[in-house]
Amino acid sequence: MNKFYITTPIYYPSGKWHIGHCYTTVICDALARFHRMKGEDVFFTTGTDEHGQKVEKEAAKRGVSPLEFITPLVNEMKEMWSLLDISYDRFVRTTDSAHEECVKKIYEKLYKSGDIYKAEYEGFYCVPCESMWTEAQLVDGKCPDCGREVEKRKEESYFFRLSKYAPAILKHYEENPEFLQPKSRVNEMVNNFLKEGLQDLSVSRTNVKWGVPLPFDEKHTAYVWIDALLNYVSSLGYLTEDDSLFKRYWAADLHLMGKEIVRFHAIIWPAILMALGLPLPKRNYGHGWLLIGGEKLSKSKESGSEELTDPYELIKRYGADAVRYFLLREIPFGSDGEYTNERFLLRVNADLANDFGNLVSRTEAMMLQNFGCVPKRGKEEPLDKELIGLAESAFAKVEDAMNRLNAPEALSAIFALVSRANKYIDETTPWALAKDPEKKERLGAVLYNLAEVVRMTAVLLKPFLINSPALVLKSLSQDESAGFEALKFGLMKGGEKIEKLAPLFPRIDVKKELQAVAEFVRANRKKENPVEKEESVKEKISIEDFDRIELKVGEVVACEKVKKSEKLLHETVKIGEEFRSVVSGIGKFYTPEEMIGKKIVLVTNLKPAKLCGVLSEGMILCAEDENGVLSLVTPEKAMGSGGSVR
Ligand code: MSP
Repeated sequence: MNKFYITTPIYYPSGKWHIGHCYTTVICDALARFHRMKGEDVFFTTGTDEHGQKVEKEAAKRGVSPLEFITPLVNEMKEMWSLLDISYDRFVRTTDSAHEECVKKIYEKLYKSGDIYKAEYEGFYCVPCESMWTEAQLVDGKCPDCGREVEKRKEESYFFRLSKYAPAILKHYEENPEFLQPKSRVNEMVNNFLKEGLQDLSVSRTNVKWGVPLPFDEKHTAYVWIDALLNYVSSLGYLTEDDSLFKRYWAADLHLMGKEIVRFHAIIWPAILMALGLPLPKRNYGHGWLLIGGEKLSKSKESGSEELTDPYELIKRYGADAVRYFLLREIPFGSDGEYTNERFLLRVNADLANDFGNLVSRTEAMMLQNFGCVPKRGKEEPLDKELIGLAESAFAKVEDAMNRLNAPEALSAIFALVSRANKYIDETTPWALAKDPEKKERLGAVLYNLAEVVRMTAVLLKPFLINSPALVLKSLSQDESAGFEALKFGLMKGGEKIEKLAPLFPRIDVKKELQAVAEFVRANRKKENPVEKEESVKEKISIEDFDRIELKVGEVVACEKVKKSEKLLHETVKIGEEFRSVVSGIGKFYTPEEMIGKKIVLVTNLKPAKLCGVLSEGMILCAEDENGVLSLVTPEKAMGSGGSVR
């Protein structure tokens, strides 16, 4: 039996889900289901990428542990996959102890073999992307992937001998054209990275605590990208006592991912596998993006748009099948595709409500009305034979497209059959046949042919849509778990009971719905961004109001951590001749030692309060950046304490 090991990337559980996030996973799910229906031994994995500085900072901002912060977001992600009926066999969290153990063992192995070594390191780090860049790779001094500011960093680090593997990777590309697709990604990798040779890669961090500590040097944690890539083998129990899954499924048959992360999968990952002496994945595919206004769909760039991109809301409004169908059918595979509500609604309306929904409801209604069940197979005329031929040849087209991972093409072959069947209804005019008792036999033959096409279409659609194919099969008294062996014309005997179906995809009034959606998005944006709202409604205050706040320069003369709190520091602040006890939530950003001697700005007339049992008689002012990082507000010129701030 053929095995098929397929993976999605593991997701950053940011909580800001949009329809673009569902793209990779829905395609993988359709492929996994397709191969299972072919009778193959499929293993399909996905998961969450949970370590790194971003998570550490977000958690600190909220005063909770990283795991406490991330777990509800992971659960949200799982819920979304369950709403979309994603049939993964394993969900890997990089915080699972089994995964962490695997990461440690792999680092140990590579350290022992000399593929990992220690050295000093300087570069430019993009916090949101968790990527380190050399100066030459920066674009206008900014991150080449996301265009955001980068931080210059110098640190001691362990390096992986990536440079050693460049020639072998190039050779592998040449000898295995399937390894990296589409072809344009090969050119990208070769021209942008491999041609000039590779530099060794820093694979550990000392400044990121939220990560897997290296077994041979616990000051260092594993670089998040290596940690994440290793999920593809930790999920199979690699280097554990029971590695039967690993033996059964490795090497991966397909790693599917968005084009922005091809570099990690097609260069770093094969090099690590080579260093481990493991076979390489058979195929990597870097798909395109869902765009809004020509830019990659992402929560942060969506602000001005009226497109509804929240997958939960889309599923709630139109159903999981409609969302899956849109993603699988509308975006040309391998290229980018624009996302708009209009395109979504038009596509769902045209194909699912009009073509497929209509074919099913017309066929079943006519059978019920004239026979009360599925009629018997009749004598076939040339027109019938053409339809039957198309139904029987559809699978080969679908299979050919799916072998190339091209779900849009596979669906287009299935919908060509649906359209042909609708046209067949117009050509055979069963409503006219029904009026003439002498044509009852012909009517039966026509409706039988249509019933078989409906049944076969439902089977063909099973990897792509979930609820509707099952409903259709059930309504024809057919086994919902049918595999592709059911794609033979003529399997129904006649006499099958028909259960009347509610419309599978109610027709949408696109114009009205577009207005409703735009209103929903506007109203929701206000709800989602209470900060924005708060800022915009904050009243203007008079100078007298401002005067009521007493601000002074103080000097921190003593500072210690507040017990049992990671976030709070307890400072003694000198203000002129006076000393005050102050508690501030900056423990994640400043050590007590760093605080001593700092001149800070303090609100001195706040009512005193107790925080974690410690008296606080003032509030230290800080600025906060978009990542929640705090920075003390200090007077720009040297001055003593006690001065007022206005
Ligand atoms: N954590 C890394 C992957 C590590 S795998 C060893 C990551 N995560 S992600 O959450 O940012 O992306 C997960 C998947 O969603 C990727 O395949 C990515 O390309 C895809 N998409 C995110 N936004 C997308 C669009 N706007 N359009 C299509 N797919 C996109 O990268």
